[in-house]
Amino acid sequence: MKKIIGLAGSMKKHHSSSEYLLSVALEAAAEQGVQTELLRLNHYNILPCDGCGNCMNGKHCHLLKDPEDQLTELYDKLKEADGFVFASPVYALSLPAVWKNWIDRCEPCSDEDLDFEYYNYDRVAGVKGKAFKGKVAGQIVVAAGPGHEWALASLMPCFTAIKLSMIASAGISLIEYDGQPGIRKRSWSKPIEEAEEAKMMARAVGMRVASSLGFSYFDLPGQSGAGREQGSGGQDAMERSQDPMVPSQDRGVQAEVWSAFTVQDVRDEEVTLGELASIQPRIFVIGDQQASLRCGPLLEQLEQQFGGSADCALIARVGQLPHFITHEFVKEKTSQTVPGFMLYYDWEDKLASRCTLAPGQPAILVGRSPGEWRLFAVDESDGRDIDRVVDYLEEAVV
Ligand SMILES: Cc1cc2nc3c(=O)[nH]c(=O)nc-3n(C[C@H](O)[C@H](O)[C@H](O)COP(=O)(O)O)c2cc1C
Repeated sequence: MKKIIGLAGSMKKHHSSSEYLLSVALEAAAEQGVQTELLRLNHYNILPCDGCGNCMNGKHCHLLKDPEDQLTELYDKLKEADGFVFASPVYALSLPAVWKNWIDRCEPCSDEDLDFEYYNYDRVAGVKGKAFKGKVAGQIVVAAGPGHEWALASLMPCFTAIKLSMIASAGISLIEYDGQPGIRKRSWSKPIEEAEEAKMMARAVGMRVASSLGFSYFDLPGQSGAGREQGSGGQDAMERSQDPMVPSQDRGVQAEVWSAFTVQDVRDEEVTLGELASIQPRIFVIGDQQASLRCGPLLEQLEQQFGGSADCALIARVGQLPHFITHEFVKEKTSQTVPGFMLYYDWEDKLASRCTLAPGQPAILVGRSPGEWRLFAVDESDGRDIDRVVDYLEEAVV
């Protein structure tokens, strides 16, 4: 059974409005056959990050070893969940400090994150928080007056950075239902259980998270959306093309699959590879940031050999970007590595993950026509790969 964990961030011991609404959201989720559990963030003693930078340098966070620290305990609990609902009061137009304290420590979230094979400074935003990556969440924020809008916006980018898909947000001002003793004694005060509009919002968040379990904005490795868009025939072919036992030079059989892949050109237009190959034979070098140094010379070599009879271009693989890096920045940097060549972008690494190309491994994709494609992995240690490409191209392009 799928599980949703609700995490309550109120500092109150009693009469928390946000915690009550969280229980309403979880009840709505449970009605959809989901197991639920409510945890309180302030029950965990999470020591504040002291900025030592170990996590940025491939070392273990020393605070995780402190017997006082309960970050791992919380993290291990959260790993059990397929989705989350976070609920919080608004404090000073933002969230109570426990949230920020916790989020600061989510880099990394646990020792285990440091063992992840791609963990290094460049990829840090892509791997943080395995308990969260690829999962969904909703958030409920309760203010007395103004500030729920700011509070929602302050949490969301942090969760996006740890690859959690925030799919439902509800913010509301509920002064007359506030649980503070000073308000509860006023004549206009009402019990939170009677806050019907807020309960409807909370229910909507709970139901939306329950119905979205398994959905993610962030594809996990080998789980790109491209295959799902193709229909089942395309997916089968995709799966065959991912089989590591299929030699790279034999991955050309799924021509219809290659044709349907979309990439984006420098003018932000989506184009299918099929469209591109219909104009003339196309030679694409596929490479990511780590391969980019090798891609320029590779393109030049291919251009020398086939320029005029085939069009050579780069497809730049771009995985998940940290939220502070823009597509424009990536375009500017990539164009500098292959000056003079046409560039296409495989945002989100969809194409590359379907070809099972390891990070840093360039490949050459040849489209003789919309219906005829072949992919060659380029292994630097084996010069014969390039020879095979050249043989095939000569046969294709003569
Ligand atoms: C330190 C503190 C700061 C607060 N700041 C705001 C604020 O900026 N805007 C607001 O509308 N309410 C503010 N409130 C009120 C709470 O958001 C409100 O009482 C909320 O319903 C509490 O939720 P809870 O019952 O789940 O703790 C603040 C309350 C406290 C204790």
